[in-house]
Amino acid sequence: MIKLLVVVLSILCIFSLAYSCPPSDRAALLAIKAALNEPYLGIFKSWTGTDCCMNWYGVSCDPEVHRVTEINLRGVSEDSIFKMAHRTGYMSGTISRAICRLNRLSSLAIADWKGISGTIPSCITSLPSLRILDLVGNKLTGGLPTDIGQLSGLTMLIVADNQLTGRLPRSLTNLSSLTHLDLRNNFIRGTIPRHFGKLRMLSRALLSRNRLHGKIPKSISHIHRLSDLDLSLNRLSGRIPPSLGKMAVLATLNLGGNNISGTIPITLITSRIWTLNLSKNALEGNIPDTFDRRSYFAVLDLSYNQLKGTIPKSLVSASFIGYLDLSHNHLCGLIPEGSPFDHLEASSFVYNDCLCGKPLRDC
Ligand SMILES: *[C@@H]1O[C@H](CO)[C@@H](O)[C@H](O)[C@H]1NC(C)=O
Ligand SMILES: *[C@@H]1O[C@H](CO)[C@@H](O)[C@H](O)[C@H]1NC(C)=O
Ligand SMILES: *[C@@H]1O[C@H](CO)[C@@H](O)[C@H](O)[C@H]1NC(C)=O
Repeated sequence: MIKLLVVVLSILCIFSLAYSCPPSDRAALLAIKAALNEPYLGIFKSWTGTDCCMNWYGVSCDPEVHRVTEINLRGVSEDSIFKMAHRTGYMSGTISRAICRLNRLSSLAIADWKGISGTIPSCITSLPSLRILDLVGNKLTGGLPTDIGQLSGLTMLIVADNQLTGRLPRSLTNLSSLTHLDLRNNFIRGTIPRHFGKLRMLSRALLSRNRLHGKIPKSISHIHRLSDLDLSLNRLSGRIPPSLGKMAVLATLNLGGNNISGTIPITLITSRIWTLNLSKNALEGNIPDTFDRRSYFAVLDLSYNQLKGTIPKSLVSASFIGYLDLSHNHLCGLIPEGSPFDHLEASSFVYNDCLCGKPLRDC
């Protein structure tokens, strides 16, 4: 009887050893924990015991090989820990290089903790299975790793709302699996790589609120899946590539708050784009008089440019215009009648040279 018990117990023991995380993964996680300080929720209290695959908050393992594959720590969450504490998360500290020892990691999210500082460990580019890197909403400084292009399986690179500096790494365009790129609200300098269009899988490219200069690369229009392109609030100059208006699924194009010059390409007017923001640039010439049934705009913001001439009469043949802003230009002449002009207020037309008619003064 005792023999049997011993046999059963030792089988159980072997079983649980084989199924708990390897000590090296556990040690790496403990080093990550040691570099962070989470004072309010106590999420790291669960990071104890030998099996890091078992109930460690935000840690997931591969069910077969029992290696850590996912770290998912989010400071804004529906999780009951947050509800009970009646607050969002806050953490200070840094992201330890020990993360790079978790070489089966496929998803790393340490997001919205507001206070995590230091740099993105450059060794993460050696994690062969990394697919998701989400470090949004911290206080990270330094640059993106220059050899980020090595992460050939990376689908999401989300580092918005940090204090990242440096240039956009040239190797970025080698991320051939990338679908979401979100670098908004950092201090990233330099130009957008000429071969940006190599990112063929990209559906969202959000680079707003940085310090990018130079031209919008024509190659962007080769990204057939791109639906959302936000380059607003940078220092981009040059002309708008007309090919952007020929893209199959581009629905949002935001170039507002740059130094873009030249005229508005007529291709944009009859494109699939339905949120078009070209506000606060140096665009010249007339607004193309080529609106037709294909023109459908929830937002058409052309304010704060150097546009001249009259408001095109064809605008009334657009199938829908929700929000229109033509203010702060050099437009002149009669505001046409009919939709969409009958639902717009004076603020859509003010600060032009000599516009008149409803909703402004009579001509
Ligand atoms: C991109 O990948 C190619 C092929 O793997 C390599 O030859 C090239 O050096 C990489 N480019 C950059 C900028 O890393
Ligand atoms: C268009 O972009 C400018 C500059 O970023 C911004 O101020 C404006 O609010 C945007 N317009 C709309 C309708 O969102
Ligand atoms: C805007 O671009 C023009 C050239 O197109 C340049 O002369 C000017 O200095 C730029 N302005 C700013 C504020 O960068």
